[in-house]
Amino acid sequence: MSKATAVANPNIAFIKYWGKIDDALNLPANPSVSMNLAALTTVTTVEFQPGLRVDTVMIDGQPAAGEAFDRVVAHLDRVRSLAGTAARVCVFSRNDFPAGTGLASSSSAFAALSLAATRAAGLDLDEQALSRLSRLGSGSACRSVPSGFCLWQGESDENSFAQQVVGRGHWDLVDVVAIVARQHKAVGSQQGHGLASTSPLHQARLAAVAGWLEVVLQGIRDRDLETIGPCIEADALAMHGVMMTSQPSLLYWRPATVSVLQEVRSWREAGLGVYFTLDAGPNVHCLCRRADASEVEQRLRNLSGVEDVLVSGVGAGVRLVAYHLF
Ligand code: PMV
Repeated sequence: MSKATAVANPNIAFIKYWGKIDDALNLPANPSVSMNLAALTTVTTVEFQPGLRVDTVMIDGQPAAGEAFDRVVAHLDRVRSLAGTAARVCVFSRNDFPAGTGLASSSSAFAALSLAATRAAGLDLDEQALSRLSRLGSGSACRSVPSGFCLWQGESDENSFAQQVVGRGHWDLVDVVAIVARQHKAVGSQQGHGLASTSPLHQARLAAVAGWLEVVLQGIRDRDLETIGPCIEADALAMHGVMMTSQPSLLYWRPATVSVLQEVRSWREAGLGVYFTLDAGPNVHCLCRRADASEVEQRLRNLSGVEDVLVSGVGAGVRLVAYHLF
């Protein structure tokens, strides 16, 4: 096969990855836990075209340039080295959600690229190897490889990959995402990870994460939102505390971000089961049970500053599809 197309869902982390122990290998400072998002997808087609002199990369209808192009080519080089080929490729990738706004587009992007490129190169990697490879493209991408709820742990290149905690059918949790800004963020997570250790709060967060992680893993198995919710919120706030206090300081929040956080807490005090988390961006992910999802969605839509709302259940792992983008 010289052409393959893969689909991946981005994932939202309940326990975050922020800061690395190895920059080049994307080895995280702490283990992280996430849920794949079924409603958001990246589709990527890769074709090896031996006549090409340079790789062609199209993302959402535009030729990729600068850093985005370099990151994709560096990843393709990893696949070429695994497959023992120097052939150049044509890549088309399409997201059905806004990229670069804290919706974790790099997670689905590098998971889909890894599967499509390895298959197009004639390789058949198992889930662990594919998760490891995806990690090298973007750390969080390793968690979009298995299906459902995933744990990413490990300290070396060999053992740092994500594994399923429970499948998507285990718990019908819903992520209702309040979109408060669609602009591309000024500082991407690649740069941000490198700043984590400049924050005086980084070590304190890492010390707290171990306890939250155990609670969240058990709570996912027990389908216990009230137990995991406070840990999820605590780690999102701790990560943003690290971001805000790093040098230079990263402040991703917009005024509407803070409004949503406060509203979520007041709804909860009034009895609605909903908890928030955020990635490296201003948008707020609100986690709730399926039965409460339309209520949460309606309430978010009524808030000023909320431009749109996305509702997503638990997603599958990266997979091949039979159609191609070109
Ligand atoms: O995979 P990266 O390098 O884009 O890092 C993702 C970092 C966060 O989204 C902020 C947290 C996470 O664990 O997904």
